[in-house]
Amino acid sequence: MFASLKALPADPILGLLAKYREDTNPKKIDLGVGVYKNEAGETTVLNCVKTAEQYRTDNETSKVYIGPTGSSLFNNEMAKLIFGETHKVLTENRARTISAPGGTGSLRVAAEFIKSCKAGATIWVSNPTWANHTGLFQAAGLIVKTYPYYDYENKNLDFDGMLAALKQVSPDDAVLLHACCHNPSGMDLNNEQWQQVADVAKSVGFLPVLDMAYQGFGQGLDEDAYGLRLIAESVKEMIVCSSCSKNFGLYRERIGGCTIIGESSLQVDIANSVLLSIVRVIYSMPPAHGAALVETILSSDELRNEWYRELAEMRNRINGNRQLIVDKLIENGVTRDFSFITRQAGMFSFLGLTPAQVQQLQDEYSIYMVGSSRMSIAGIANRNVDYLAQSIAKVL
Ligand code: LMR
Repeated sequence: MFASLKALPADPILGLLAKYREDTNPKKIDLGVGVYKNEAGETTVLNCVKTAEQYRTDNETSKVYIGPTGSSLFNNEMAKLIFGETHKVLTENRARTISAPGGTGSLRVAAEFIKSCKAGATIWVSNPTWANHTGLFQAAGLIVKTYPYYDYENKNLDFDGMLAALKQVSPDDAVLLHACCHNPSGMDLNNEQWQQVADVAKSVGFLPVLDMAYQGFGQGLDEDAYGLRLIAESVKEMIVCSSCSKNFGLYRERIGGCTIIGESSLQVDIANSVLLSIVRVIYSMPPAHGAALVETILSSDELRNEWYRELAEMRNRINGNRQLIVDKLIENGVTRDFSFITRQAGMFSFLGLTPAQVQQLQDEYSIYMVGSSRMSIAGIANRNVDYLAQSIAKVL
């Protein structure tokens, strides 16, 4: 049976990581996969996570099955983090959150859930979007279409194009929106633009699916959830896929949440039963470790405050790097305007290089970024920024 298979290329993002690891050039720079790195280029375990891990080792009493919903404490804490404690979807008891294996796991069960609502449904994603969105939605049997989002020429948001496209979407369709820190462009909506999107979502009646993989990496935990919370106030039904990979640094623990909002408490219970039956036939139940750490951190004032500090440190370093690379490009004689990098948010920015220039950076300078010239800003450090700026100046 296997003889009919044809080898597939490595994943455009994860494949880069493998190449980077094999590269022996001491000057190599990893600007590929979206993981936070400190000034020394390391992705260390957060202190609050270390403490929660010790607590778990000392207090865990059983490894018995946890069930498809995962941990209720984690789910409740995640819902409060996403919506804020007093959001009406919580006070009206219209939201159900389950633990999921990371953002990807959450998106995949959401996709299967949409298919259960309507076989062959269409989901609209931004152009561009995270490289894995299209594949995972198609793998679940959804039709994927795109709406305009990034204006490549002006390095800006194509907001008029986006809004016009969303007005034409069918009420039976789903629309994927990046809640913050748009991946890959780093270009986010402002509060007025979110209001307009919320109004369109309400008037058209499509199903908003909010992907929030980077809460806290843009402007702050509440600021980054502004648009999501606004839409949740306006519409009757919505899905939120969230991830703890980045903001808790729990990449390999695979933990996130999938939240369904329904028109009523009764309706969302029915929807949740469908979601849980989907979980059961895919992976049965989520891993427990990451959820246990997050719930320990979020339910302790001391650990929560430590997490706020550590998250702010990551966010501030990334934002500082944005200005740093812009200044260094100027210092190295680059006349092209790269100031747009400082107007973007989160882990990524599009440099606007050609695929050939990106390849040249990789082949000749051991600088790794995704082919679209998406650069993971966290990989920039004082020790490599001159080399990076000089290399970019050369390929330009
Ligand atoms: C990224 O976009 O680099 C991250 O979300 C990691 C991934 O799984 O692609």
